[in-house]
Amino acid sequence: MAGDADGTKKNRFLIWGGNGWIAGHLKTLLEQQGKEVYATTVRMENREEVLAELKRIQPTHVLNAAGCTGRPNVDWCEDNKEATMRSNVIGTLNLADCCWLLNIHCTVFATGCIYQYDEAHPWDGPGFKETDPPNFAGSFYSMTKAHVEEILKQYSNCLILRLRMPVSDDLHPRNFVTKITKYEYVVDIPNSNTILTDLLPASVLLAEHGETGVYNFTNPGAISHNEVLTLFREIVRPSFTWKNFSLEEQAKVLKAGRSNCKLDTTKLETKLKEYGYEVPEVHEAYRRCFERMKAAGIE
Ligand SMILES: NC(=O)c1ccc[n+]([C@@H]2O[C@H](COP(=O)([O-])OP(=O)(O)OC[C@H]3O[C@@H](n4cnc5c(N)ncnc54)[C@H](OP(=O)(O)O)[C@@H]3O)[C@@H](O)[C@H]2O)c1
Repeated sequence: MAGDADGTKKNRFLIWGGNGWIAGHLKTLLEQQGKEVYATTVRMENREEVLAELKRIQPTHVLNAAGCTGRPNVDWCEDNKEATMRSNVIGTLNLADCCWLLNIHCTVFATGCIYQYDEAHPWDGPGFKETDPPNFAGSFYSMTKAHVEEILKQYSNCLILRLRMPVSDDLHPRNFVTKITKYEYVVDIPNSNTILTDLLPASVLLAEHGETGVYNFTNPGAISHNEVLTLFREIVRPSFTWKNFSLEEQAKVLKAGRSNCKLDTTKLETKLKEYGYEVPEVHEAYRRCFERMKAAGIE
């Protein structure tokens, strides 16, 4: 185990899915914070290699940002079910299990795309809580994620963070904003979103404090596509225009369904308050995000 001269154990982070988008952001953040951080691309489902990597690097914390998300999008998972299961089910569980055996804390960057609005949870009503059973299996990707969470949450070393439609301060192709600015038509429906600049430091905080269990991991509140794009036009790109279409029209051009939902962030906000950390409401968070983009000269 990593240790200081005085014998206290120093945190050592190992990021899984090292070449991924969120993994890259995490690594940069931890380096900026002066933390000891490593990244790996070892396949999660390969038990021997996972155990060997954990024994070689001896992390105190694994941050699992690996997962099969499909390219160009989750529609890919519909036609590649075995590959999707090997990563999102077998691999994710295998990594958590190997960490448990070796007494390593394991944070899993999971998804909140396991819900859809229903009668008890309309868009202007209460959000889904961590304890609500998943009600969206419209895509194979979401189905694997919902099923694996049920088992994963029984591991006493696991912290499960449910991200939704992550947003970075640049226009990276995986940024939710980049995606909706490039679509020919966009739907207009409120959703919970994860602004990475606000939430990734919170993930480190929770991991460092050894927190476990499931957390909805988004900014508080929900924001519609049109609200996002209006703010984008106002702050980043005044010439921007877009066209809407209905959910029914969207369904015709997608292979798999897409989750639309609002998550309740009370549990997350309450926990983070213990550490003096606050996450801005989603509209305010977007405004700040777009202002950072503008300040960086992105247009
Ligand atoms: N971006 C989103 O919209 C979003 C939303 C909510 C949750 N998440 C979750 O957050 C995690 C990270 O997402 P991301 O956007 O950073 O995705 P990403 O850019 O596709 O990164 C995922 C990384 O995981 C690697 N990977 C896939 N299967 C693996 C396996 N079995 N073993 C080891 N590495 C594996 C991929 O490598 P290869 O390309 O070589 O396979 C890729 O480098 C994923 O689990 C995703 O489901 C993402």
